[in-house]
Amino acid sequence: MIVRRSSVELDKLRRSGLLVYQILEKLKSMVAEGVTTQDLEIAAERMITDAGAKPAFKGYYTQAAGTKYPFVLCTSVNEEVIHGMPSPKRKLKKGDIVSIDTGVLLNGYYGDSAITVPVGEVNDSVKRLLKVTQESLEMAIDKVRAGNRLFDICGTVEKHVTSNGFSIVREFVGHGIGTSLHEEPQIPNYVDRRGENPRLKPGMVLAIEPMVNAGKPDTRVLSDKWTAVSKDGSYSAHFEHMVAVTDNGPWVLSRP
Ligand code: MF3
Ligand code: CO
Repeated sequence: MIVRRSSVELDKLRRSGLLVYQILEKLKSMVAEGVTTQDLEIAAERMITDAGAKPAFKGYYTQAAGTKYPFVLCTSVNEEVIHGMPSPKRKLKKGDIVSIDTGVLLNGYYGDSAITVPVGEVNDSVKRLLKVTQESLEMAIDKVRAGNRLFDICGTVEKHVTSNGFSIVREFVGHGIGTSLHEEPQIPNYVDRRGENPRLKPGMVLAIEPMVNAGKPDTRVLSDKWTAVSKDGSYSAHFEHMVAVTDNGPWVLSRP
């Protein structure tokens, strides 16, 4: 069942979304050669605590990993797709890209958003990877309208990414979000006909998060049990927003 949120609940999700936005803006401004992914982690944790919120990822258990995730951020560099772990040893360098993904719990409601940021100048094909991934999210957001169906979102991401020669990661998906970090529905970034295709209704809140590889789509998880990387070592981009279905169209909760 996909929960439909009241306007009071949507306002709470909005506050969580804006907190995540402010954190990501701050971290984006910090990204530079020589900065470590742990520097980003420390800044994020401070902002979350100062806001009276809790990190949504730290302590989050998944069956697949078999452990609790130990950080407030996922920082996934270059061929890392998602769930890269912050480290004092991981110094960013020019030409890298870093996906920064974070979630918060504020007043009982979750926020979750991600961006991929270039470190200094990146080459043209990497620029295009970031641009196409971000565009695919924007085009999907525009489908978050009452009366449309889930596959309109999935298919829009899939078409834009594949028609530009990049590939969709299939092992990880977006999700509903609300009083849990992950709620129904699952939101693959491709049309998965094995899944349901519910109609979108006002009050539904969706976290849409395209994960796109420059090369082949296949991924594997490193021995740390969390970090997912592209099998072929190609760069991977990731953007995420939480979007509410309203009577007036899409409402992106995770940006002003
Ligand atoms: N944005 C990702 C998601 O929604 C990050 C989750 S990291 C975890 O699934 F640690 F919480 F699993
Ligand atoms: Co998410």
